[in-house]
Amino acid sequence: MKRETLCKQTDMQPGEMRQFQLGRRGILLVRDESGDFYAVGSECAHQSAALVNGKLERMWVGDTVGESRPDDERTVVVCPWHNYEFDVATGRSPCDPERLRIQTYRVEIEGGDVVVNL
Ligand code: FES
Repeated sequence: MKRETLCKQTDMQPGEMRQFQLGRRGILLVRDESGDFYAVGSECAHQSAALVNGKLERMWVGDTVGESRPDDERTVVVCPWHNYEFDVATGRSPCDPERLRIQTYRVEIEGGDVVVNL
């Protein structure tokens, strides 16, 4: 398995995302509001918009129709073109999780470096 260092842990603030290009592969690195890092494919699974131009939000969840609340544990990236959302932990879109999904990559912090497993 190939591994790449993307940046220092301190280079990104919580709530920030950045795009990295590793050869032909675009990686979107996300630091959620809790300070945890996630890496996903940088293109939207719908029509390939650059997700780095979207925004990060809490995922809205609910057990009852008509009632929902933001989940403090789950973050989505919202596509800038048609507002589809993708869970940064699973890569799946909550509205169509089987069909609309983006690649996810495991992230590790090593000596202050953010390392992605490709
Ligand atoms: S291109 Fe992302 S939702 Fe359409």
